[in-house]
Amino acid sequence: MTNSSITGWGKCLPPTVLTNHDLEALVDTNDDWITSRTGIKERRISHVGTSELATLAGKRALAAAGISAADVDLVNVATCTPDTLIPSAASLVQNNLGASNAGAVDQNAACSGFLYSLIMACGMVEAGVIETALVIGAERLTYFIDFTDRGTAVLFGDGAGAVVVQATDEPGGLKGSEMGSDGSVADILWSPGSGTATNRVELESDHKRMAVSMNGPEVFKRAVKAMGDASTRVVDQAGWALDEVDILIPHQANTRIIDATARRLQLDSSKVFVNIASYGNTSAATIPIALTEALEAGRIEPGAKIVFAAFGGGLSWAAAAYEFGSRVEPLGETDEELPPTEGDVMSLLAENFAYFGGGPNQ
Ligand code: COA
Repeated sequence: MTNSSITGWGKCLPPTVLTNHDLEALVDTNDDWITSRTGIKERRISHVGTSELATLAGKRALAAAGISAADVDLVNVATCTPDTLIPSAASLVQNNLGASNAGAVDQNAACSGFLYSLIMACGMVEAGVIETALVIGAERLTYFIDFTDRGTAVLFGDGAGAVVVQATDEPGGLKGSEMGSDGSVADILWSPGSGTATNRVELESDHKRMAVSMNGPEVFKRAVKAMGDASTRVVDQAGWALDEVDILIPHQANTRIIDATARRLQLDSSKVFVNIASYGNTSAATIPIALTEALEAGRIEPGAKIVFAAFGGGLSWAAAAYEFGSRVEPLGETDEELPPTEGDVMSLLAENFAYFGGGPNQ
């Protein structure tokens, strides 16, 4: 059977940084609490839309794969924060890239979205339905963050990551996968005012309903169980012994959740990739950004046995056991950058403060 191989990878992080110290001026929090409870030191705030972040990550992934946009059969963007509901972010990315032979679709499984998209793209490639997919996780989640709510304000950031998945006769690819959901607890992590169930007249007088609202400890408990259980099951499906796993690339939501997942897999911390300190939780973008940085840091050897694991709103979760291909170096790169931005992080967030309330030293 044809295998699926990740042949290109790339990321796009907007340049504006919101540090823990910046947050001290917005909510009753401090660097010590955020660092010790989450592992996060700073996160990025985007001055461009989700599709622009996704496009640049996608261009970098195509360059790394050494293929052109015309070679892509499917652009799949995992996002819960598209620029618009119609059209999809993927359609905008398809046009920006000039991927004239590609279909385009968004998928929303919140923070698990990229893994859902990756698993589906690998399945389509292996079944011979398509040959080449560009799979992107991209989010501008800070648009939906109420910076007067310290329970969510400290956690999230913006960014995008992308991979190219291609058909290959090489060994490797997706060896085990799981996608799960428990909609019975949907309201422990949600944005109640963000869809068609919303009474728009009431929303006018209660903007807070548009914000991400979360029961942190409940999400924490379920995340630890879902990620741990799913990770061990995909390793089992793959027929790997736990000590054969080379690296865990987990969703970056909280270092304590990552540590618990690593313990379930009996992995030493040297086999876990963590970059949450720099970007916080970028939702569907965390795993492709982390994979890209793991490759850039030389942490992935040819044929590496990787476990990916994620959870998020829904609740949703996913895990994959993935054997990397023989090439771990990019074939090319692009020197394109995001358009420049002016002003500091607080001026970038001014529209958010005007909508949800708050702001520096309110
Ligand atoms: N700064 C300072 N103190 C804070 C705070 C903040 N940003 N947020 C909460 N606190 C306080 C609480 O009010 C509480 O105070 P109290 O003991 O006086 O009542 C105390 O810290 C502990 O709060 P709690 O919510 O129990 O903390 P926690 O250890 O569960 O950590 C999270 C909170 C949000 C970091 C943690 O629950 C978490 O990471 N949950 C998962 C969230 C997640 O991953 N979401 C994304 C899913 S993709």
